[in-house]
Amino acid sequence: MCGIVGYIGTQTAIDILVHGLEKLEYRGYDSAGVATIIENQIHSVKAKGKLYNLRSKLEKESSIAKIGIGHTRWATHGKPEEYNAHPHLDGQGKIAVVQNGIIENYQELRQQLKTEGCEFVSDTDTEVIPHLIAKYYNPEVDDAFMSAVNKTISRLDGAFAIAVLCVDFPDELIVARQNAPLTIGFGQGEFYCASDVTALVHHTTTILTLENGEIARLTPLGVEIYDFSGQRLRKAPRTLDWSPVTVEKQGFRHFMLKEIHEQPAVVRTCLEAYINSNWEPNSNENPVNLNLSPHIYEDLEHIQIVACGTSWHASLIGKYLLEQIAQIPTFVEYASEFRYSPTPIMRNTATIGVTQSGETADTIAALEMEKQRRIIATNEYRPGILGITNRPESTLATIVDQVINTYAGIEIGVAATKTFLAQVMSFYVLALDLGYRRQKISAQRVMEIINGLSQLPNQMEQILHSEEEKIKELASDFPDTRDFIFIGRGINFPIALEGALKLKEISYIHAEGYPAGEMKHGPIALLDAHVPVVAIAVSGSVYEKVISNAQEAKARDARLIGVVVENDTEDIFQDKLVIPEVDELFSPVLSVIPLQLLSYYIASLRGLDVDQPRNLAKSVTVE
Ligand code: F6R
Repeated sequence: MCGIVGYIGTQTAIDILVHGLEKLEYRGYDSAGVATIIENQIHSVKAKGKLYNLRSKLEKESSIAKIGIGHTRWATHGKPEEYNAHPHLDGQGKIAVVQNGIIENYQELRQQLKTEGCEFVSDTDTEVIPHLIAKYYNPEVDDAFMSAVNKTISRLDGAFAIAVLCVDFPDELIVARQNAPLTIGFGQGEFYCASDVTALVHHTTTILTLENGEIARLTPLGVEIYDFSGQRLRKAPRTLDWSPVTVEKQGFRHFMLKEIHEQPAVVRTCLEAYINSNWEPNSNENPVNLNLSPHIYEDLEHIQIVACGTSWHASLIGKYLLEQIAQIPTFVEYASEFRYSPTPIMRNTATIGVTQSGETADTIAALEMEKQRRIIATNEYRPGILGITNRPESTLATIVDQVINTYAGIEIGVAATKTFLAQVMSFYVLALDLGYRRQKISAQRVMEIINGLSQLPNQMEQILHSEEEKIKELASDFPDTRDFIFIGRGINFPIALEGALKLKEISYIHAEGYPAGEMKHGPIALLDAHVPVVAIAVSGSVYEKVISNAQEAKARDARLIGVVVENDTEDIFQDKLVIPEVDELFSPVLSVIPLQLLSYYIASLRGLDVDQPRNLAKSVTVE
């Protein structure tokens, strides 16, 4: 939520800032702004709404500044208006600040600063920061700028990443991080900072992720890093193996469509990374190369998973797999609920945080809390906190004992698609690993599962090839539809939830996912000829049950759309979205694809901004 960028070097700062903001726009798009230093003055330009508004303002001026900061906002404190847009300045206009995060004690600070004569022009929490820096700024002391920022930070409660300019130090950019992401990029005589590496890879792949409690000074000569107590830290940057092409649309109309199409490759990569393809039943090797801590293999009694949104849906599928394949009782919690009403501590329990961004505030806080609880409760910490993510360089990795990289890479579309499937794949791999090493499944079953998994990428490609045009056409039948219901059972119940979430978040159509058997306990009252029902009715143990539940919907005049396997003979569905025939165990990996495409085409035909739906952000770094 919110993206910040900064630049100091030899090029025109504005161009680099705007390019960076473009790459960070998925983090929020309520307003955007930049500040540079020109002739000993802060020059700030801001605009309400999306980045193109700022861009058109900037087109009217030319700038020679070689230092600057920029921000794209997801509104928390204060409406999405220009006066609340960052950068925020102190009263004399000498200091400019951009911030990502929330300053929890801003009311108290604001009140105090007001009594000292400061005037505020925005409703934001951020505006206290430049005022505090100005208050602590004493040009007489050594290192006046850094010292004022340091003193200010010691007054701030909450989570923040900041970038700061000061006119008296036209060759310094100061950045700091506390519980919100910030990465520094290294060029030749030029340096960058950004909330996410997506804004950096176009310029450099030499990066350093700032950790919590660190502050850095960027000058054209280099980067100095300190902890908040002023201790100099020696840290080496690392090289990212990314290419800038990763963050381009590559001919697709939207990132979301590109990412839907990337899914077969993502699944292939995940399988290649973790499944030992030469494994045979009598070999001494393990079929899966996850190499978790021995405690997990030996002592595990329960698994608890914390996640939000789509990652929570992936976790529900994970629960099914961990219980059915590995026989481990598994609990899935909303991270935002778990934080405030955690389950009592259970013996020998692994906790898994699942998050595509690796930055979701609730998931991060839930995992931190759990880690602390365990240290206090047992006096002896046993590694048992895992993270499943496609962003192994994220904050998540600094908390957990081990990261399971899903290998989905960066996802730009705000609606999660490939990262969801990659998380689901990680759960197959984890369940298989635990099931085998704990002797809960036979070698024969391991072979069957590996075979089933290895066929998925081709089967996914088949769906994309054969169903996409049909789904596009079907999507045009719903220009005015206001409600949708999705039903599924067993391992496909989470897919009903996910289908509904995808539709509502990008098309703004009210949609609900239900376990098919629950419809008659209330939600069936919603049905009539205006409410289409999508039933996931793939062959397997609950097929007949889902068909009966779909019949009940049809009897209430609902238009029925079925996600079915090839050669399905059932004739109750008005429309059929067809997936290859697979063992029920693997079906969610296939059944979700038609639903992703359906929501994509409905939203796209309505002319909506599929990649950046209203009110949402890709990385939810506030509670
Ligand atoms: C929906 C979506 C969100 C995220 C949720 C958690 O398409 O993307 O529901 O799943 O905000 O985000 P992460 O996975 O980054 O923790």
